[in-house]
Amino acid sequence: MPISPPTTSFPATFNWGVATSAYQIEGAAAVDGRGPSIWDTFTHTPGKIIDGSTGDVACDHYHRYTEDVELIASLNVDCYRFSISWSRVQPLGYGAWNEAGFDFYSRLLDRLREKNIAAHVTLYHWDLPQGLQDQGGWLNRQTCVHFATYAAEVARRFGHRVASIATHNEPWCTANLGYGNAQFAPGVADPAAAIQVSHHLLLSHGLAMQAMRTIGAPARLGIVLNQWTATPATDSEADQAMAKLEYARSVQWFMDPIFKGRYPELALEHMDQRLFTVYPDDLATICQPIDFLGVNYYTRAFSSAEVPPRKPEGKLGFSDMGWETYPQGLTDLLVGLHQEYTLPPIFITENGMAVADQLIDGKIDDQARIDYVSRHLAALAEAMRLGVNVQGYFYWSLLDNFEWNSGYAKRFGLIYVDYQTQQRTLKASAHWYRHFIATNLLTSVEV
Ligand code: FCB
Repeated sequence: MPISPPTTSFPATFNWGVATSAYQIEGAAAVDGRGPSIWDTFTHTPGKIIDGSTGDVACDHYHRYTEDVELIASLNVDCYRFSISWSRVQPLGYGAWNEAGFDFYSRLLDRLREKNIAAHVTLYHWDLPQGLQDQGGWLNRQTCVHFATYAAEVARRFGHRVASIATHNEPWCTANLGYGNAQFAPGVADPAAAIQVSHHLLLSHGLAMQAMRTIGAPARLGIVLNQWTATPATDSEADQAMAKLEYARSVQWFMDPIFKGRYPELALEHMDQRLFTVYPDDLATICQPIDFLGVNYYTRAFSSAEVPPRKPEGKLGFSDMGWETYPQGLTDLLVGLHQEYTLPPIFITENGMAVADQLIDGKIDDQARIDYVSRHLAALAEAMRLGVNVQGYFYWSLLDNFEWNSGYAKRFGLIYVDYQTQQRTLKASAHWYRHFIATNLLTSVEV
């Protein structure tokens, strides 16, 4: 717990932000020509979302973006990460563009600019146009070509108005939760398909990078990966082997192709290769310089070969998602990446905590979230002290929002949303974050 005096500060040029994604906040699902995405289809299929909800309205950000930009500005942040809904700007995922969709993002960029907030855009935060799913989705190699066309169009229109463009958000989730265990859209449970989808996601990243480079816009181009360290539950050989394999399958599976031009041997040896098709030039396409790497970090993986598996002790507790609070993992992860790869600048593009927040007398006292963020910032500062080049941090999320298959039951926001009235209320953590950014002094906490 807090130890005085305050010790940690970040470089004056460090970027502070908040993050969201299109399907989770926009709503306006069938407005102004937007086509359906796989998440519209999935949420409207009974039994897929824990509370039976959909993103049809979500935070109604599509209609409230002006107010939301005011809120972003009120936090003192200098950057905002959001995603573009592909089916809003290209209803089928191929063919005609939807000008009304591009207009929305253009107006959002105008508002951000007025407030001097740099925009960090993600092209794909899991919401594939249903029109492409109908043609096989990410199992169809052709989807990669359509993605590159979409990426180039966004770069052409917005590449001079945004600070960065990320191709994908967390392709591990798209592949493994969308195709491996059916928790996410499109709801397929076939591990062999998940492997091939992960390859196509990486290939689409490479093709999109090439397509965007030809536009020559000033935005920095990169990708956002969810990452963790894997801790063996005990020092048994079985647990250690399991942890190594977990790291190879999640972190190295995406990092190695991008930075080394090959898939990790260990993961290849242990995977279901039935559908795995890699064309001769694919890895060269995937392995090309990126201007930044986005890292999303929430918790560690804990590898236990016992049945039933051992659980982490959770010295610092667990979030409302059941995820262990383990800030040390952020330091270990970043230092490990720095040792293994030649990295571009890193942005922590997501980090945050779900808390069962309650609005009492107009206030939300989320001390647990403040502790979580301060500990992770201390862990981040430690990684930077050890030589890792990190240039920014985005809290996930600006607002409580549609948390995928958990629906509205889980609250990650710095800002509380009453979904009946759409009223937004700053939580104690929002006030804390604003104050922290203004003073750039972190009270020293135990990591
Ligand atoms: C990440 C997602 C983000 C949000 C957080 C809690 O995996 O990128 O959309 O759901 O988890």
